Amino acid sequence: MAKEMTKARMIVDKDFIISEIDPRIYGSFIEHLGRAVYGGIYEPGHSSADEHGFRQDVINLVKELQVPIVRYPGGNMVSAYNWEDGVGPLADRPHRLELAWRVTETNEMGTNEFVTWAEKINAEVMMAVNLGTRGVDAARNLLEYCNHPSGTYWSDLRRKHGYENPHNIKTWCLGNEMDGPWQLGQKTAYEYGRLAAETAKAMRLVDPSIELVSCGSSSSAMPTFPEWEATTLEHTYEFADYISLHQYYGNRDDDTANYLANSLDMDNFIHTVIATCDYIKAKKRSKKTMMLSFDEWNVWFHSNTQDTKIEPWSVAPAQLEDVYTFEDALLVGSMLNTMLRHADRVKIACMAQLVNVIAPIMTETGGGAWKQTIFYPYYYTSVYGRGVALNPIVHSPKYDSKDFTDVPYLDSSIVYNEEGEELVIFATNRHLENTLRTDIDIRSFEGLEIIEHVVLENEDPKAFNTLTNEQVKPHKQGQSFIEAGLLVGILPKLSWNMIRLRKTKKE
Ligand code: AHR
Repeated sequence: MAKEMTKARMIVDKDFIISEIDPRIYGSFIEHLGRAVYGGIYEPGHSSADEHGFRQDVINLVKELQVPIVRYPGGNMVSAYNWEDGVGPLADRPHRLELAWRVTETNEMGTNEFVTWAEKINAEVMMAVNLGTRGVDAARNLLEYCNHPSGTYWSDLRRKHGYENPHNIKTWCLGNEMDGPWQLGQKTAYEYGRLAAETAKAMRLVDPSIELVSCGSSSSAMPTFPEWEATTLEHTYEFADYISLHQYYGNRDDDTANYLANSLDMDNFIHTVIATCDYIKAKKRSKKTMMLSFDEWNVWFHSNTQDTKIEPWSVAPAQLEDVYTFEDALLVGSMLNTMLRHADRVKIACMAQLVNVIAPIMTETGGGAWKQTIFYPYYYTSVYGRGVALNPIVHSPKYDSKDFTDVPYLDSSIVYNEEGEELVIFATNRHLENTLRTDIDIRSFEGLEIIEHVVLENEDPKAFNTLTNEQVKPHKQGQSFIEAGLLVGILPKLSWNMIRLRKTKKE
């Protein structure tokens, strides 16, 4: 029997430029939480561990993702973190009660080790300072320790610790989720705005070359959103380069159609933050445009119940270990599409997180490592989504769901890489039953041929991967073709796709 076919149309033109894509949009995040650090990136006794105790199997998987920037050390954890605990001789480092996640932090890994690990994966570090229990002084000292060449107390301490050259960390987060009642040292918008501005002032005096991220709301569902942004930016606008956004989704009602529409919520969130930033810009008569750092985004809900059972004060327990399904990968693909369509304002984004903790990469402590379902859309978008983002004009049939109306079945983003003469189409078909035939007008690009059509599909939306059974992985047998100047994208029901085209080489 012939498959049911739904039809969509799209126009892609090389002049419909949104912006150059900042590669940092493919960033990620490692927090001292669960087994992200201990048993994740760092496990000295592991058979693949290098001379620093870093797992080489994990490094190899992270390198595949081409992650350009990694946020560290938290997250909620940073709001009660004493960075001094994590530097210097290992034997002198204290074990501490880590209050955000109610575990014991051994401090075997700290700032210097993390910088070394980031170098191994060719990534920049995005460092967060503690504006929960600490403030201006600890932040400026950490910056001096990291970035000042020598000749002062903190820079010479770094050299004494074996790091002669400054780390030159460029991007700094002014605290984490300071609006959240769960945060150690939670602040009102006024309190945070003032503290962040004063901290930024001091940090810029230490190193004027740094870039700073002011904390936005912990999610669009916060009762103080977007007033938080408006009030805090009144204080931080002239100091900060970015405002942060955080958002996680979950399919708690087991309603796939509704769940996959959550990227519309993300889109709306981004629009509102941009509008708020631009309102403050106008109010201040500022010439500066505030950029967005979507520095925590992902799916997070599978592990919620399990996490209530964790023994307090254990060391590196399995926490936030979501096992991702095929449908989660579809939403992750659409979240990436959403950020690409806002590439003019979203300049940094961090998939939260990278290893074991709500992560694309999983490990067994003492065992192997594997790719979760969400690894794949992240991998392909990061590797091939470099260049300029183009604005696709999409005509797609739509559906309504519990929380959303007018949800297009087709969700897409387009990237043109002039250097490689490649046009890349990322497309999710949200239809639960039908193939989506998408006629894509690519006439402004002459002589393109299809190089590959990668498809992530599965009969079971709840299929997941384990170390020994990779049920969800892409194939390259996509059925797209070019006909009369049109690229015809055949997007299977409930699928994520990447269609890559390149200019035909003349003989
Ligand atoms: O990524 C997990 C947690 O989510 C982070 O620690 C926190 O910033 C957010 O609430």
